[in-house]
Amino acid sequence: MNPDKKRQSWTSRLGIILAVAGSAVGLGNFLRFPVQAASNGGGAFMIPYFISLLLLGIPLMWVEWTIGRFGGGFGHGTAPGIFHSLWEKNRFIKYFGVIGIFGPLVIFIYYTYIESWTLGYSFFALLGKYEGIKTQAGMQSFLSAYQGLEKNQFFNSILPSYIFFLIAFISNIVVVYFGVSGGTEKLCKIAMPVLLIAGIIMTIRVLTLGIPNLSKPDWNLVNGLGFLWNPDFSVLKSAKVWLAAAGQILFTLSVGIGVILTYASYLKKADDVALSGLTAVSTNEFAEVILGGSIVIPAAYVFFGPVEIANIAKSGAFNLGFITMPLILQQINFSAFFGFVWFLLLFLAGITSSVSLMEPAIAFMEDEFNIGRKKSVMIFAVISFILCQPAIFLLKHGVVNELDFWGGTFCLVLFGTVEVILFAWVFGMENAWTEIHHGADIRIPDIYKFIIKYITPLFLFLILGFWFIQEGIPTIFMKNVASTDKPFVLGTRIGLFLMLLVFAIMVKIAWRKKRVKSRNS
Ligand code: ALA
Repeated sequence: MNPDKKRQSWTSRLGIILAVAGSAVGLGNFLRFPVQAASNGGGAFMIPYFISLLLLGIPLMWVEWTIGRFGGGFGHGTAPGIFHSLWEKNRFIKYFGVIGIFGPLVIFIYYTYIESWTLGYSFFALLGKYEGIKTQAGMQSFLSAYQGLEKNQFFNSILPSYIFFLIAFISNIVVVYFGVSGGTEKLCKIAMPVLLIAGIIMTIRVLTLGIPNLSKPDWNLVNGLGFLWNPDFSVLKSAKVWLAAAGQILFTLSVGIGVILTYASYLKKADDVALSGLTAVSTNEFAEVILGGSIVIPAAYVFFGPVEIANIAKSGAFNLGFITMPLILQQINFSAFFGFVWFLLLFLAGITSSVSLMEPAIAFMEDEFNIGRKKSVMIFAVISFILCQPAIFLLKHGVVNELDFWGGTFCLVLFGTVEVILFAWVFGMENAWTEIHHGADIRIPDIYKFIIKYITPLFLFLILGFWFIQEGIPTIFMKNVASTDKPFVLGTRIGLFLMLLVFAIMVKIAWRKKRVKSRNS
C-alpha cells in the first residue's frame, strides 16, 4: 500500500467490539448451536464446547486481534500481507494468507442467501403469509417453494426469494460501501443492541410458554431445557462430538475465517486487544449459550415432545429455524409480532456477520492494489453477485453444502492452524506476548503463553487429523452425494479451486509490483 495513504479506522472502542461481536453473533448462534448441542450429547456437549472455547476460541481471538493490529501498522489488513509482516524472510507464507480472503468469500456466497430467507420470513410473519399451515410437511412445502425447489399454492417461482436476496445483498453492499466507521460500525451500533433485545424478548417468551399441550404434562419447559442440557457423558468418547464442538467454537466466534484480523487491522497501535477480544467472546457466548440455547430447542420440545424433537434436531438447523419455529409461533398470542421478532433477530445476526465476510476481499484490493474503497466495493459487488448465483439456483444439488464444507469448516481449521503457528513459533512467543500486551487493559494469565504455543496448535492438528479421516475422506470422494448431484459438486470444487488460484496470482502480482516500486525508489 502507498505509505502516505491513511487507512480507515474505528471511531470508538465500543464500535470495534460491537463489530467483532456482530461478526461472531450470527445464524450460527441461534440455529447451528442448538442443533449441534442437542444432537451431540446435550449437556455433555458443553464439556468439549467449553474446553474448545478456552483452548481454541479465546486464544485464536487474541491471536487474530493482535496480528491484525500488527499488520495494520504496516498497511496490511488481510492475511497475505499480515503473514508476510510476521515472517518477512519467507517468500511463500503470503500464499497461505490467501485462505483468509478465499474462506470468507466462500461463506459469504451462501450465507447472504440464507440471510435473505430470514428477511423474507420476517415479512411473511407480519403479513400472515404462512398463517394456517399446521404441519411440518406443510411448512416444508412452503420453504421448498420459496427456495424454488417446487411449485405449489404458496409460490410458483423463485422470484420472491430472489427479490429478498437482492434486498439483502444490496443492503450488505451499501453498508460496506460507507467504510468501516461510516458503514459497519454504525450498523453494528444499532443492530447489536436491537438483536440482543430481540433475543431477550424471544427467550422470555419461550421460558413462559408453560404447558401448551395440557394432555401432555411431560412436555414442559423443565424437560425441554433438560433435553438440551442433561448430560450424556458417554458421548465424550466419540471424536465426532469433539470435532463438532471445536468446529462450532471456530464458526461461532468467526475465528479462523480471516475476518477478525482484518477488523483489528483498523485499530491503532496503542489500542487494547486483550480485554476487547475477551469482551467480544463474552458477548458471543451470552448470545449463543444463554439466548441461542433457550429459544428453539425448549420451544420445540413443549410443542412437539421428546420423540419428534429428536427427529427435528437431526434434520438440521434450517428446519428448526424455518419450519418448526413458524409452526410454534403461530400457536401463541401475537404470533405475527413474535414471528417478526424471531426472523428480524436472525436477519440482524446474519447481516452483522455477512458484512464482516466481505471485508477481507475489499481490504485486499484497497491495501495491496491501492484501489479506492468505493471502487473496491463495486468490484466485490459484481464478482460476488455472480458467485452467489449457483448457491441460489443449484441449491437442490448440494452446492451450498459443498461451499459450507470447504469455506465454513475445512478452511477455518487450516487457517487457524497456520496463524497460531506463525504467531507463536515463527514470530516467537516472547514477541507475541509483548505484542498482545501492548496497550492492554488486562494482563492475560501466563498459562496462556503455554496454551497458545503448545495446546492450541496441537488441538488444531488433532482436529485436522481426525476430521480428515472421519469426514474429509468420505467428503472428498463424494461418498454421501447422490449421483445426480456429483457433477454439480465437482463443478463447485473446480470453481473454488479457480478462485483460490486467482487470489494466489493476485498476491503474486501485488508483491511483484511492490518489488519493482521499491527498486525504482
Ligand atoms: N460467526 C458467524 C455465525 O455464527 C459466522 O454465524
